[in-house]
Amino acid sequence: MATGRRTDWSRIARPSLAGIEPYDPGETRDEAKDRLGLTDLVPLNWNEDLFGPPQHVLDAAAAEIARAPLYPERAYADFRAAVAEWIGVPAASVVPAHGAQALIGAVTQVFVDPGTHVVIPQPTYGLYAQVAAAGGGVVHRVPTNGLALDLEAIAAAAEEHSARLVWLCDPNNPTGLLIDRAEWAAFVDRLPDGCAAIVDEAYIDFSDPDVRVRREQDVLDGRPVICIRSFSKVFGLAGLRLGYAVCDPEVASLLNVIQEPFNVNRIALAAGRAAVETPGLADRRRADVAAARAVLAAELEAAGLEVVPSQANFLLVRIGVDDGPVCDRLLRRGLLVRGGESVGLPGYVRLTVAPVPVMREAARELLAALRAT
Ligand SMILES: Cc1ncc(COP(=O)(O)O)c(C=O)c1O
Repeated sequence: MATGRRTDWSRIARPSLAGIEPYDPGETRDEAKDRLGLTDLVPLNWNEDLFGPPQHVLDAAAAEIARAPLYPERAYADFRAAVAEWIGVPAASVVPAHGAQALIGAVTQVFVDPGTHVVIPQPTYGLYAQVAAAGGGVVHRVPTNGLALDLEAIAAAAEEHSARLVWLCDPNNPTGLLIDRAEWAAFVDRLPDGCAAIVDEAYIDFSDPDVRVRREQDVLDGRPVICIRSFSKVFGLAGLRLGYAVCDPEVASLLNVIQEPFNVNRIALAAGRAAVETPGLADRRRADVAAARAVLAAELEAAGLEVVPSQANFLLVRIGVDDGPVCDRLLRRGLLVRGGESVGLPGYVRLTVAPVPVMREAARELLAALRAT
């Protein structure tokens, strides 16, 4: 029989974790289906790729299972080289990881000590602030200007607080808005010495190549910039957990001090490599998403709704009423969408872009839900 007191883990864990709640993904999709008696539920809430990866990418993943007993030594190097070639940087500037999320954590561990100042816009993806706070960082939030990131105010906050890190997301989640090239160049010039910009480009491959910022070049030029990218979005591999950083080789070494050796499984590496080695795959997906996004936007705008011009695989829509009941009604109709309240924008909804027939259904159902509330 056990004796003695139960362990009080909160006294042993790092004090900076006190009061920080873990991410709660909420009710699972299967639970929601069972609860509401639905046969089908369309997931438009997490910005996954609803067009699906090509069969040969899935075949490459399946073939790799036979090599499961072996550590992914060669697969890791091959994937790194394939990504480097695809984006036009040396392999030493590519750091693979199990998802952009892993890199958000690793970057924070490299740069944030207890008391380090970190500047983060509001609203944006929630994980940057969560991991910075968990690392003991002091987080300064900078509100957007309207819905756009206020780069001047962000640089000013970095200066004011002697911040070591600034987090940006481009295109930003939840708005889908892209950072302008000239504004970006001015921002990097203005960043104080000793401060780095970490840019989460999880959705960058959906944006127009003629207007998006080429941060690979900033990295090659030795600017204080680190990019984080994901295979969950344009390549449709969210379930395999794969991403990479583009950074100076010195930062790559630091990240590799923090990240585990062989941190990505060989199935994800094989699928990722097959995806980047497929000529034009990202371009085709960008075109598919842009076409379907335009259909959704046009149908909602025709009904008088305000749609934010997105360069990502989701669309933010101003509905001007409490988004909770609207999302509940859509869920009962088999469409899972993200309410604005949960991403810091009450009165909005965010919908993942899916093939055109789904977009037409989503527009119809959203308009019906708005008429009914
Ligand atoms: C801005 C942003 N960054 C990162 C992620 C997660 O990326 P990954 O699946 O590669 O961890 C998401 C997922 O929705 C996201 O919206």
